[in-house]
Amino acid sequence: MQNVTVTKARDSFTTGLGVIAATLGSAVGLGNIWKFPALTGLNGGAAFIIVYLLSTLMAGLVVMVAELMLGRRSKSDALTTFKVLHPKNASWALIGAAGVLSAFLILAFYTEVAGWVFAYIFKAASGAVLSSDPKVTSAGFEKLITDPVQSVFWQCLVLVFVGAIIVAGVSKGIEKTTKRLMPVLFLILVMIGGRSLTLPGAAAGLEFLFRPDFSKVTGGVVLTAMGLAFFKLSVGMGTMITYGSYFRDDQNIPMTALRVMLADLTVSILAGIAIFPAVFTYGFKPEAGPSLLFITIPAVFSQMPFGNVFVVLFFVLGAIAATGAMLSILEVPVAYLHQRFGMSRFKSTALTVILLALIGSTAALSNSLLANFKLFGMTMFDFYDFLTSNLLMPVGGLFICLFVGWVWGEEKVRAALSNDGQLKNGAIISIFLFLVKYVAPLTITVILLRGLKII
Ligand code: PHE
Repeated sequence: MQNVTVTKARDSFTTGLGVIAATLGSAVGLGNIWKFPALTGLNGGAAFIIVYLLSTLMAGLVVMVAELMLGRRSKSDALTTFKVLHPKNASWALIGAAGVLSAFLILAFYTEVAGWVFAYIFKAASGAVLSSDPKVTSAGFEKLITDPVQSVFWQCLVLVFVGAIIVAGVSKGIEKTTKRLMPVLFLILVMIGGRSLTLPGAAAGLEFLFRPDFSKVTGGVVLTAMGLAFFKLSVGMGTMITYGSYFRDDQNIPMTALRVMLADLTVSILAGIAIFPAVFTYGFKPEAGPSLLFITIPAVFSQMPFGNVFVVLFFVLGAIAATGAMLSILEVPVAYLHQRFGMSRFKSTALTVILLALIGSTAALSNSLLANFKLFGMTMFDFYDFLTSNLLMPVGGLFICLFVGWVWGEEKVRAALSNDGQLKNGAIISIFLFLVKYVAPLTITVILLRGLKII
């Protein structure tokens, strides 16, 4: 076994509310307001949501409980966790290593989109991107993403911003920030949702969101839905292992995971309610994909009374959501470097941020200087997104389930989830064991093989 450095007083979340705020802050992100509405719009509305929900219940949530449990037991980063819990076979730590790699790849494109969102707060406030003509809003967006200097600038700004919060620590940085931001996020979302529901096209928008069109659901769409389920709950790449290691011992993990999942789903649905009625009212198409956020939203919102205020609010909402998520992804490599090599938090954050600025710029430049550079027919930006959501996270989740269900074993799971017999949650643990041993691994494997057209 490798020498494992265990720091003496480990920083952790201090209150139950702090745990929920940080974990929910990780789950809620651009996934809710950028990916969820776009993918729902492209893939058959409610039919997509149903498949997404099933994947969440049968796989995403199961992996979430598994990860939080492992992290809390080992009190270690994503990679060291496996070495601590299963010292006999070092190869399980590869799950953690893949997680650290995924964290870099996700942040490479995530900080880019977050950069656009931050930029749009200022552009919307100055009126620069507001127009009822989608041609104008589209030209505004093109101008931003095809400008190499602006793209890289906003991405680096975002990296430094989240890096500064991470340096402040787990309780004083992550917990404090998310505790303050989460309520604001809900407030803005309810305001925009309420505004949207009073528009004349509200019924059409809601019908689109809630009436299923199953004809669009192919194997590829199911894989996308499962990828979204993993991405949304931040599972399959070690984020929840890392956060679990900051949980208090008396925290009820299955209940926490369930609450976070439900609150996250509420945010996604509210985002849909904020967006689609407005889209239908002003005669736009729901299938606009990722551009929905930056092209359709400004065009749609600028047509309603006080629209300019709501557009700014919308991007503030996006920035808040993205921040909580980015903190949790960045924490994965930072915690690893800190624990494994005994680096200070400042050093490990600085190193990660610098590396990310380099890798991230390949995503930032994928609409300008690197537009013609493609891997498997995808730009670097799309490649990082596809590779992580549709491949690395589900595969990571699969191996985490196999480890927990078949290697670590039932007895240890029962002890860990009941806090050594102090919590009376035996029935829930039995359900979890069944899901983690059979249902989740099978679901993930079948969807992966079908989605990648292997079977
Ligand atoms: N859950 C976040 C979102 O929806 C993204 C994320 C992925 C966060 C992986 C952490 C880890 O935006």
